Amino acid sequence: VAGEPLKVMISGAPASGKGTQCRMIAEKYGVVHISTGDILRAEVASGSEIGKKAKEYMDNGMLVPDEIVTDMVMTRLSLPDVKERGWLLDGYPRSFSQAQSLQRAKIKPNICILLDVPDEVLIDRCVGRRMDPVTGQIYHLKNHPPVTNEISARLITSPNDTPEKAEARLAIYKNNAAAILPTYVDLLRKVDGNRPKEVVFEEIDSLLQQIQVHVVKSKNDR
Ligand code: AP5
Repeated sequence: VAGEPLKVMISGAPASGKGTQCRMIAEKYGVVHISTGDILRAEVASGSEIGKKAKEYMDNGMLVPDEIVTDMVMTRLSLPDVKERGWLLDGYPRSFSQAQSLQRAKIKPNICILLDVPDEVLIDRCVGRRMDPVTGQIYHLKNHPPVTNEISARLITSPNDTPEKAEARLAIYKNNAAAILPTYVDLLRKVDGNRPKEVVFEEIDSLLQQIQVHVVKSKNDR
């Protein structure tokens, strides 16, 4: 595409399918997928100072302090691949103060996609979620089971995916979402996330295609 690269924000409750959709978006559009959850998990796995601080919060389903996450995101957004390929922010901003940090830095998406999924479905998805530590692929015991016994045998469950912790994370999410959404109300597109992942992606894909056309047009009009 000849226009400016896409800038996309995706938000939604824990287990609304952000990670699943982001993989598909990044593959099709080539944008840089910046997931604060993934970056933090990598910090924890490497045993870094940031990882040691973050682990305590993450294990309890709480948000990691804003300054740690904001520094990480700003650093990542300043790298050259982002200017060239555009960005897909997944899981940030998650608090009013994080949204303010982006506003201050004049970082604004073309669109903010909100994945909408009923509470009871979210809890079921958390409890059934499994991760393949070899490929990073996300599965669900009922909705998206692995195809081989070899993969089944090595799947791991996150300590955060118990019913109690899923409920607690959902409550925190709801509180914060109410504080952030007004900042992006003009750019917000609600997508029904309670459909098969391919169908959800079709709708997101069509929204992103409309934006690309618009971005190219407005660049040509200048
Ligand atoms: P993060 O990794 O962002 O966790 P999250 O928001 O809880 O999101 P999840 O990864 O749980 O779910 P998802 O929406 O990506 O869904 P998924 O695709 O996996 O953050 C982790 C932690 O890091 C936070 O708790 C916090 O401590 C910290 N953190 C991160 N960002 C932060 C920030 N900005 N500030 C402070 N702290 C921060 O799908 C879920 C399941 O459903 C899977 O099993 C999947 O197979 C299944 N599924 C997906 N789509 C569908 C579908 N359409 N139909 C049926 N099943 C589906």
